Amino acid sequence: MLVTVKEDYDAMSREAAQLVAERLRKKPNLVLGLATGSTPLGSYKELIRMHQKEGLDFSKVTTFNLDEYIGLSPDHTQSYHHFMMENFFRHINVDHRYMHIPHGMASDIEAHCEWYEEQIKKVGGIDLQILGIGANGHLAFNEPGSSLGSRTRIKTLTEQTVKDNARFFKNQKDVPRYAITVGIGTIMDARELLLLGSGLRKADAVHAAVEGPITHMCPASIIQMHRRATVITDTEAASKLTRSYPG
Ligand code: GLP
Repeated sequence: MLVTVKEDYDAMSREAAQLVAERLRKKPNLVLGLATGSTPLGSYKELIRMHQKEGLDFSKVTTFNLDEYIGLSPDHTQSYHHFMMENFFRHINVDHRYMHIPHGMASDIEAHCEWYEEQIKKVGGIDLQILGIGANGHLAFNEPGSSLGSRTRIKTLTEQTVKDNARFFKNQKDVPRYAITVGIGTIMDARELLLLGSGLRKADAVHAAVEGPITHMCPASIIQMHRRATVITDTEAASKLTRSYPG
């Protein structure tokens, strides 16, 4: 695992965007796994800039998002579908036919989860998976205690995640309690992982993921088992790491 600590959020975002752009230039039909949350926003902004100013081309890229709230339609302003459209997709030339986000209103959720896994397989798997990390060490919506071999399925959100995500909703009671999420096994199948962590609020989770034991109580710690994982953080998120890492 390669850990890089940058001085602040912007530097972390630029470094991550550069890695994505490099992989994309090498493989124009890259299969890219995408995350929501505030952490990757800066990297999406930088990738949008690269598209607009440097002609970074997304036209052959296939994307798979990690998760979606159950009960929110794609056009709901707090859905991850809406988030991705507003913060990334509508600013780049990604072909909307190649975009995948779990559907929070699917009538048969179990069948939808199986279909989602099949779509990933059909395109030959994910080349590069971008990940944030929950303050409790979750990956996507794989909360502590999730099976480390899990596949796409329904998960109940923990109280902490509901609280953490309440900032995006008018009231905490509006935050959905269930989500569709790809599994830890799905994430680990990606050929490369890029995990981002920013801010003091993530320091414990980053420490547990990078230097702690591998345990389902910190799902992100599983990335220690991945053959090609890069972790990029800012100094605040790295503040509880005990070893020194390059900048
Ligand atoms: C959310 C998402 C995760 C994300 C995490 C951190 O619940 N499901 O994919 O990585 O929480 O969010 P943020 O980056 O806003 O701190």
